[in-house]
Amino acid sequence: MHRPSHLVALAATFSSALAAFQGFNYGSTFTSGAAKQQSDFEAEFKTAQGLVGAPGGGFTSARLYTTVQGGTANDPISAIPAAINTKTSLLLGIWCSAGDATFASELQALKSAIAKYGTDFTKLVAGISVGSEDLYRISPTGLLNKENPGAQPSTLARYIKEVRDAISGTSLAGAPIGHVDTWTAWVNGSNQAVIDASDWIGVDAYPYFQETQANSVANSKALFDDAVGATQAAVGGKPVWITETGFPVSGKTVGQAIPGLENAKTYWDQVGCPLFGATNTWWYTFQDAAPATPNPSFGIIGNSLTTTPLFDISCKKVTNTTSSTSVGPSASISKSSATNPSTTDRVGGGSPGSDAGSGSGSNGTVPTSSTPSTTPATNFNGAGAISGSVGAAFAAVMVAILAL
Ligand SMILES: *[C@@H]1O[C@H](CO)[C@@H](O)[C@H](O)[C@H]1NC(C)=O
Ligand SMILES: *[C@@H]1O[C@H](CO)[C@@H](O)[C@H](O)[C@H]1NC(C)=O
Ligand SMILES: *[C@@H]1O[C@H](CO)[C@@H](O)[C@H](O)[C@H]1NC(C)=O
Repeated sequence: MHRPSHLVALAATFSSALAAFQGFNYGSTFTSGAAKQQSDFEAEFKTAQGLVGAPGGGFTSARLYTTVQGGTANDPISAIPAAINTKTSLLLGIWCSAGDATFASELQALKSAIAKYGTDFTKLVAGISVGSEDLYRISPTGLLNKENPGAQPSTLARYIKEVRDAISGTSLAGAPIGHVDTWTAWVNGSNQAVIDASDWIGVDAYPYFQETQANSVANSKALFDDAVGATQAAVGGKPVWITETGFPVSGKTVGQAIPGLENAKTYWDQVGCPLFGATNTWWYTFQDAAPATPNPSFGIIGNSLTTTPLFDISCKKVTNTTSSTSVGPSASISKSSATNPSTTDRVGGGSPGSDAGSGSGSNGTVPTSSTPSTTPATNFNGAGAISGSVGAAFAAVMVAILAL
């Protein structure tokens, strides 16, 4: 009977994977367009880790948008050695919205990074996102908002396979591979091939941009939950990670959503606090205002690197709402890669500014306002948020175990 050993192995897997990844999104460039260098990434990662009052285990993970260092053809992004030096886990990003040649450069950079840094690098990898909001970009709303060229679902499925083949037999083999997009893309049945090809699903959701709905900050938690719930219902039990979400600390009003520190804190408390430590989450964002402040600006620290956030991020006095009562890790979620925590780190960083918000409109409408501000070397705009409801996956696995 092998049953006992299976159970033991599974139990071991889960017990070692109980914390969720918790971090921010990191662009590869500053708002000036200048490429970030290793020292820049190190300073950001270290400062994020030192944030005063950080909940859970602190912000020790970084989601990147590209694996290519700015200003180079296909050198690995310097966020990788910066992550190694600061023990920062990475949700790597492969930029997929600029055609096959650019994708090939991303793949080359990934291979070079594995060869150059070995397990010092690969053990930090939480996952690999092949693409970011590429499906949103080819949707009617994305086209309307003149986003960057996106990628067809069949193209993304092919890219995902190419990444799998590239890491096969390396120390990065087994890293969970997924794709980040807006929830509106995930509920679109025409994109099923991407769901099928993915190990996990990354969701970017921004109630702030959902101007066709009642999107006041008071209603934002409900809109966020709806977006994540709709995604979970559409992806067949695959783990859902929160790859981007956040609320502007400054900027223009969109619908009923009014930027400002008080509302940004409310959103953090109601949406972020229940996620931190429980669901793999990469918040949008740590800093998007260096050196210039975009409109809207989602960064929680302003223009200068500092460990003192613009508002209390401790989750200690969370607003009393039914859904946000559990601040802290709620037991059931596992690190995304329940199966394989060792692999993925995210490197890349495009500059977030972007269309991050974009896909969040529940009606699929992406606010024109969310026009991406920055483009990384190759245009990366999408800030996506991955939402993780690894809980569902965890539950599914438990069911599987019980069924053995
Ligand atoms: C659904 O997905 C397909 C393929 O990505 C895309 O062409 C189409 O525009 C999408 N429809 C909507 C309403 O977003
Ligand atoms: C939440 O609300 C209850 C009842 O109004 C109150 O007693 C409690 O102190 C509140 N908790 C927090 C953390 O504000
Ligand atoms: C979706 O958004 C578009 C653009 O704002 C709007 O015209 C349409 O009525 C909305 N549809 C729904 C169902 O809200």
